[in-house]
Parts: sequence; structure tokens; C-alpha cells
Amino acid sequence: MELLDKFGRKITYLRLAVTDRCNLRCQYCMPAQGIDIVDRKELLSYKEMYRITRVLSELGVNKVRLTGGEPFVRKDFVNFLESLSFNDKLEEINITTNGALISNHINKLEELNIHSINLSIDSLQKEKFAKITRRDVFDGVFNTFDLLEKSNLKLKLNVVVQSGFNTDEIIDFIELSKEKEIEVRFIEEMPFNGSGKRNVEEVWNFNKILDYIKNHYPTIEELNSKKSSTSYNYKIPNYKGSFGVIPSYTRLICKDCNRIRITATGLFKNCLFDGGVFNVRDFIRKGANDDDLKELFISTVHHKPENGFIAEANRATNVSESMSTIGG
Ligand code: 5AD
Ligand code: SF4
Repeated sequence: MELLDKFGRKITYLRLAVTDRCNLRCQYCMPAQGIDIVDRKELLSYKEMYRITRVLSELGVNKVRLTGGEPFVRKDFVNFLESLSFNDKLEEINITTNGALISNHINKLEELNIHSINLSIDSLQKEKFAKITRRDVFDGVFNTFDLLEKSNLKLKLNVVVQSGFNTDEIIDFIELSKEKEIEVRFIEEMPFNGSGKRNVEEVWNFNKILDYIKNHYPTIEELNSKKSSTSYNYKIPNYKGSFGVIPSYTRLICKDCNRIRITATGLFKNCLFDGGVFNVRDFIRKGANDDDLKELFISTVHHKPENGFIAEANRATNVSESMSTIGG
């Protein structure tokens, strides 16, 4: 049994949001006052998340990314990682984090063989960082960055490219990959910010970001990426690390999508841009057994929309919810 959609895409990757809460207030993700978080009992329990993951892994999912909100905000998250690590059908467990709360856990993450950490850093300048995140955590996050870079964990930096805020730092970010074995990934800003509105002076889409970089360096090497990769990847000759550009909003990568998402409240999403297909939490709490779950997952994935534009067109409401609710 496997998860196959109508277009022949096989689903092997689950992005699971473990909480909708976050310790930061990034401008592109939520308004200053935060978002309406749900009651704790509405969140999936660790037991439920473990079960969902196990059932999906029996259907061919071999990679999980844990996101939030900020996953480390949830109590006992590291213990949950440990339980997940016992599932030998999972080849990779990855985490997306803002890094503010993880410096004490890095050894444990290495011990658990976490495959990679995506660290969100949108500016290398303290004041600007505070402005974007609306919190004073720059020193802590950069300490984490340093520790992660020295660890055995594979490290990727997530940089949301924000017109008028950090486009002047694109080259500084790439220069980090000169001496550091990291992958810097530039992400197109999307309207998932809790209101859908944000003043944008210019649109920094995939092409603009890439052209800007190409204009700055005499040569850039294109790297071969995995078919299902979310980014187009490059490197500057002789630099130790690499960089990538993620066309999250122009959606150039849907054809080879291998992903599904489950939000912190158990909403199953076939696509980042769909409004959610059904609630796994409610289904489990009504007493569904593993076979019921499998059947539901198989039939739902079958209807995965062809791409993010079709998914968006079929939604009841506009794309405006916070990324903290959806899970990056
Ligand atoms: N557009 C693009 N990326 C976003 N993220 C959060 N909100 C947005 C948005 N509106 C990113 C975070 C993090 C990942 C989980 O998603 O920066 O790296
Ligand atoms: Fe928190 Fe990430 Fe949203 Fe920033 S982008 S507020 S770190 S969930």
C-alpha cells in the first residue's frame, strides 16, 4: 500500500506542525499582537502525532519535518523526537526552527540522529533582526547558529526575502557559504501572515532573486537537486557551502511534489495552498482504527491538487492564515 495521487506523484514526506504557538512575531508570519492560538486540547497530542506518523510510515512516508509555530515551544518536544526516532521506517527526521530555544538541546539532537535543521534567519544585523522578528533574540539565535555549524547536524538557513527589509543582505548571506558548510535558502515571501496584507515595494520573486545574484557573481554553478527538492540549488565556485532559491509563491516545483502537511490541530493538507481537506484529530478521537486511517489517507492523497494554483483556486477563503498555524 502506498500513497499515490492521480498525477503519479508518490507521497513520501510529511510536514507535521507540533504547535501553533511561537515565541517570536515575525512580520511576514503574523501581526504584532500574535494570532489566535487554539486551546491546548485542540492540539494533537504527542501520542496522536506518533500514531499518525507511524500509520503514514507504513504507507511509504520515510521523511518527516517537524515545524510549528516553533516546535521547541511545546513542552517535551525533545522526548517526542526521541519516540519518533524509534520508528525505523523513517529515514530522515528534520526540524524547522527559529533557533531561539535550542542551544541546550543540540547534543541531544545529534544523539538522536536528526538529519537536518532548517534555521530561520532573515537578517545578519541585530537591529534589523529585532525589527523583523519583533523580539530581542538576536544574540541567542546567532549563538545557536554557531553551535549548529560546529555540530554534526546538517544545517540550512531559511531566509525569507522581504522587499524593503533584507534584500540588501542577499550577498552577505551567500558570503556565509564561503567558509561555512551550510546551505542558504532564499524563500519567496508569501501572504501567509495572518492578514494576507503587507506593503511590498517590489516583488522579489524567484527570477528577480536569482538575477540579482547572477549579476553579482561572474559564475555560479548550478547543482543537481533531488527531483522533489523545494529549491533550485547553486554554488559559487570554491565556496564550501551552497545556496538555493525556493519558488514558494511562484510554485515552480509542484510537478514533483512528494509532500503532505498536518497542522497542529490535525488538519490534513494536500498542498500548502489548499484550505485543509479533513481533520485527522477528530477522526482519531471518534475511534478510527489504523486501517480506517490508512484508507482515509490513501483516498485523500488521490485527490491532491495538481499544483498550488489549482489548490488556491479551490479554497473557500483567501490565502491569509499565518504560517504559524499551517506549519512551514
Ligand atoms: N512567506 C514565506 N515564508 C514564510 N515563513 C513563515 N511565513 C512565511 C511567509 N509568509 C517561513 C519561515 C520559516 C519557514 C517555516 O517558513 O521563515 O523559515
Ligand atoms: Fe515564529 Fe516562525 Fe512565524 Fe517567526 S516565522 S513568528 S519564528 S512561526
